[in-house]
Amino acid sequence: MQNYLFFGIIRTMSKELKTVLTGDRPTGRLHLGHFVGSIQNRIKLQNESDKSFYMIADIQGLTDNANNPQKVRNNVIEVVLDNLACGLDPEKTIMFIQSEIPEIAELTVIFLNLVTLARLKRNPTVKDEMKQKGFGEDVPAGFLCYPISQAADILFARANLIPVGEDQLPVIEQVNEIVDTFNRYYGETFTKVKHLVGDTPRLMGTDGGIKMGKSLGNGIYLSDSLEEISKKVMSMYTDPKHIHVEDSGQVEGNVVFTYLDIFDSNKKEVSELKEQYKKGGLGDVIIKKRLINILENIINPIRTKRAELAKNPEQIMKILEEGTNKARIVAKETMTEVKKALKINYF
Ligand code: TRP
Repeated sequence: MQNYLFFGIIRTMSKELKTVLTGDRPTGRLHLGHFVGSIQNRIKLQNESDKSFYMIADIQGLTDNANNPQKVRNNVIEVVLDNLACGLDPEKTIMFIQSEIPEIAELTVIFLNLVTLARLKRNPTVKDEMKQKGFGEDVPAGFLCYPISQAADILFARANLIPVGEDQLPVIEQVNEIVDTFNRYYGETFTKVKHLVGDTPRLMGTDGGIKMGKSLGNGIYLSDSLEEISKKVMSMYTDPKHIHVEDSGQVEGNVVFTYLDIFDSNKKEVSELKEQYKKGGLGDVIIKKRLINILENIINPIRTKRAELAKNPEQIMKILEEGTNKARIVAKETMTEVKKALKINYF
């Protein structure tokens, strides 16, 4: 009993608890950009945090797929498989489905009043995505407001550490503005959140485009076969002026070297290869074969584990159901406090 009390005191005295929360829109399988941008951090943090949540953001997935809920439904299992295959562990991370937590929707409605339309339209991530999807002024209101619902995703769980890709930073900034405004209007209720971006915050697409994107057709997926990886790497953009083996080639902006810099652990050999490429005498096929080999070494164990897990979809749904039940308990507690803060705790 005494020990219990002692550790209890230590715990209250120690710094704020580290609660991690992250999520994926179930709109397609996940790729290497997700892996280096956020998944690796999720796996690491589930061992270093006090509590860890992983959310399937199906409601957010609908914000630009309202006419295709089947796509969102089908991809729920796909993104869970990707995360489990990479090492997310349901014993350590509470894995749940956004739409199964109605408190997230309730919180979203309350947060909607704390953000102006002008501010929503200024969010650079939302702006980019709107352009990419060709929405213009005809953007669905839910899509424009997704940073607000993402604030609810995070704050219902009182999470304070958010592993995300670099593209999500403006969204996290908006979440913190909502925290500030909420606390100012209704009293200290939420704490600010911190982001954590992976070592490679933004992975170039196989086409040399600035970002690997689910909807850009320039991704290498965590479930790709060796044949698919090979095909994608062989068609990678290198240096259009590097035609003959003996020609000198450019390393900057060369997709193959960009990937070798990220994924090849033998930095010394990569730097030697770069020198040789610049001088001339090194063909594209050699560096591409090297990259195929390296990517296959990363993806092979993920693909194998994924295929194993995919044999038992009921088991996957069970994991989500158990996680959702745990998340609901936290959601109810937070909502009670929020209603108290707003003085709408009537009965
Ligand atoms: N917007 C994120 C993405 O597109 C997914 C997401 C939804 C998320 N809710 C979240 C990420 C909460 C972190 C925390 O990748």
